[in-house]
Amino acid sequence: MSDVTIRGLNKRYGQTQVLHDIDLDIPSGEFVVLLGPSGCGKSTLLRCISGLESITSGGLMIEGRRANDIPARKRGVAMVFQSYALYPHMTVRENMAYGLKLRKMEKAKIDATVNGAAERLQLTPFLDRLPKALSGGQRQRVAIGRAIVQDPKLFLFDEPLSNLDASLRVQMRIEIAQIHRQLSQTTMIYVTHDQVEAMTMADRIVVLEGGHIRQVGKPLDLYRRPNSLFVAGFIGSPKMNFITGPMAQSRGAATIGVRPEALDVTDPTDAEISGEIVHSEELGAFTFLYIKGADDAEPMVVQQPGQTSYSEGTVVGLRPVPEEIHRFGTDGNRLGEGDPEIRTAN
Ligand SMILES: Nc1ncnc2c1ncn2[C@@H]1O[C@H](COP(=O)(O)OP(=O)(O)OP(=O)(O)O)[C@@H](O)[C@H]1O
Ligand SMILES: [Mg+2]
Repeated sequence: MSDVTIRGLNKRYGQTQVLHDIDLDIPSGEFVVLLGPSGCGKSTLLRCISGLESITSGGLMIEGRRANDIPARKRGVAMVFQSYALYPHMTVRENMAYGLKLRKMEKAKIDATVNGAAERLQLTPFLDRLPKALSGGQRQRVAIGRAIVQDPKLFLFDEPLSNLDASLRVQMRIEIAQIHRQLSQTTMIYVTHDQVEAMTMADRIVVLEGGHIRQVGKPLDLYRRPNSLFVAGFIGSPKMNFITGPMAQSRGAATIGVRPEALDVTDPTDAEISGEIVHSEELGAFTFLYIKGADDAEPMVVQQPGQTSYSEGTVVGLRPVPEEIHRFGTDGNRLGEGDPEIRTAN
């Protein structure tokens, strides 16, 4: 059980500043996801919290104690990495027990702890196997087990599922969420660039871009009210459609954003926007239509429920659901409801 407070944290490698003035409060027991594109500083922030990286300036508090200078092994933190890095010559049991042996825990207690974790992770039948005789998902569970037995106050995950295939990812995503529920007092910080993982697992998501925090909030709050074009474009898949020009200006914005599920397909004759269906993706439960207007650089994406009768080459109109239009100003920030963009002369 641990709360984490980060104040004005900066991280530089030589001249390169990788994290800028990070402020973040994470209450005990919360599941926080750090989300952002490659290179935005997710792993670096996690490593600063774990103690694997030093902090250039600013404060890190774990349970109210300044932790900047506490060595990694004394922070009560366990970390699970993308490459699970199990010891290949050790059995599952030995891999899980290793850290406890180093801590000189007595044998009977080690056995009980490892057996308990194996039970929880459904690894009991595999305890005497070597890692090479396990599937990817089982190996990742051993890596998680190795962290659980440490009884950490704070659990850090760095893209733990990115080496797994799609169905295993879904299964492990659910398992990690269940582990968090069982260890309800354990704070978890989870790094991913997979926004489905972020949406489904997080109590709160922290969106990072270029070493800056762009927005922090509950998954659906970020989905419904992204504070900037960046967050709007990053959260949601397929991504939000952005429209500039007269259609945005008539709504007092530089850019408007409409999610694929908030665009209705209409008759093209009296529609504000129209275009040709250049591609369709039928996924069974829903269909994505890619619609290219006359001068649009990128096609707009429309999500239709179920299967549709529209075929490629058809010209259709599009109508955004009015209450689902997101408005952004010239600076890329979200405009308030009645807040017209202050137009510069042009
Ligand atoms: N030891 C280092 N020395 C110099 N620059 C580094 C070092 N480690 C990371 N960086 C730089 O810091 C930035 C953030 O890296 P980081 O690994 O935190 O990104 P990330 O968000 O985890 O990306 P990814 O999703 O690809 O894992 C990158 O531009 C990276 O090149
Ligand atoms: Mg990383």
